Amino acid sequence: MNVALIGSGGREHALAYKIKQSDKLDKLFIVPGNAGTSVLGENLSLDTNNKESVVDFCREHDIDLVIVGPEIPLVDGLADVLRENNINVFGPNKNAAMIEGDKSFSKDLMKKYNIPTAEYKTYEKKDYLECISYLENISYPTVIKASGLAAGKGVAICNDMNEAKNYVDQCFKDNLFGESSDVLVIEEFLEGQEASVFAITDGEDYVLLPPAQDHKRRFDGDKGPNTGGMGAYAPTPLVTDEVLKRIEEEVIIPTIKAMKNEGREYSGCLYAGLMIKDGKPKVVEFNCRFGDPETQVVLPIIDGDLLELLYSASKGKINKEAVSYNGKTSVCIVAASDGYPGSYKKGFEITGLNNMPNGVVAFHAGTKLVGNKILTNGGRVLAVSSIVNSSDIKEAKELAYKALKNIHFEGMVYRTDISDKANILS
Ligand code: AMP
Ligand code: GLY
Repeated sequence: MNVALIGSGGREHALAYKIKQSDKLDKLFIVPGNAGTSVLGENLSLDTNNKESVVDFCREHDIDLVIVGPEIPLVDGLADVLRENNINVFGPNKNAAMIEGDKSFSKDLMKKYNIPTAEYKTYEKKDYLECISYLENISYPTVIKASGLAAGKGVAICNDMNEAKNYVDQCFKDNLFGESSDVLVIEEFLEGQEASVFAITDGEDYVLLPPAQDHKRRFDGDKGPNTGGMGAYAPTPLVTDEVLKRIEEEVIIPTIKAMKNEGREYSGCLYAGLMIKDGKPKVVEFNCRFGDPETQVVLPIIDGDLLELLYSASKGKINKEAVSYNGKTSVCIVAASDGYPGSYKKGFEITGLNNMPNGVVAFHAGTKLVGNKILTNGGRVLAVSSIVNSSDIKEAKELAYKALKNIHFEGMVYRTDISDKANILS
């Protein structure tokens, strides 16, 4: 099979690394990829906003499967155009990607189909006064979310009325996230611990991958601003077999059915971000793609043929035997540029990447190959994932941090407590 993988982050490096292991793979193109993916396939710059150029490329190179990594092209309808041109694609159509692209839609869907989630209200810009009067009468903390895409930064946890009003003003009056914050979802603050579960689905049937836990805040102890994710581990003991069964029965199955029933058949990776309290899951968000950095810990602990799984899902007949959990444990630490998720500098040389101990893979994210040097080129620069042959999370954590000590670049920052949450039961 010839495969085109769209994206340039750590998630895409991990996908490329796993797809490369498939016997079915012929040629792999990564669009645009990063320094890490360049040794697994051919990096290619192609304007994915120009959907026709992607179609032309697929035709010219006999592409058998396009895998779309990030949410933006999916929400923008790239999968639709590929399907209309009879090109196989892993990833939902635009009307299904709305499950991530429009939080007010996904909240209404969950309400309609009794899928457990936080209580909420939705306000449009024109309802400003009504929104403020609602905020005067609720208890705090409360959570305010931009309904549209905001690169993981559109959520504010407000501790009092002033903070809440301030955030609403920024969204409605100062257009903080442009059109993405023209509609706000205000929801109940949920306590508990978060987990991420990926369901690979063909629209009807599905395969669950091992549950992971992300660390979204920038600093140790879950302090500081939200980021795309500073590290993850899998599997997480937070999701026991019993909890996983509830997630499957109360969230995954009803959501796949609901989407089909709404005429928005969902094919691709359905990412459920969940809050677990006393063994009960509630949905915090859905994403229409694999998570980053969760993918960097989930893929190393599955055996089998990922390409076969994704291809069969894209063809509407998922091969449920294609992959299985291999009993291992993985911890991944993200190394970021000082300043991230705010502004940061780029272009620093990264050293030590070839010096990884056994059982560790370094996944590139914001990196760039210039001559024979690898330079920083983004906020989240890279992630090291350890893989140990047991369920010992502590051992996996130590190995990941040991590996990270070999890597250096100016302004490198990271959290030191990734996976410690595994010790706190919800
Ligand atoms: P989201 O982009 O919706 O996943 O939100 C980003 C982060 O904000 C989540 O990972 C949670 O840590 C936090 N968050 C979102 N919604 C809630 C909620 N209802 N209660 C508590 N925390 C939340
Ligand atoms: N790690 C969070 C996300 O991928 O949205």
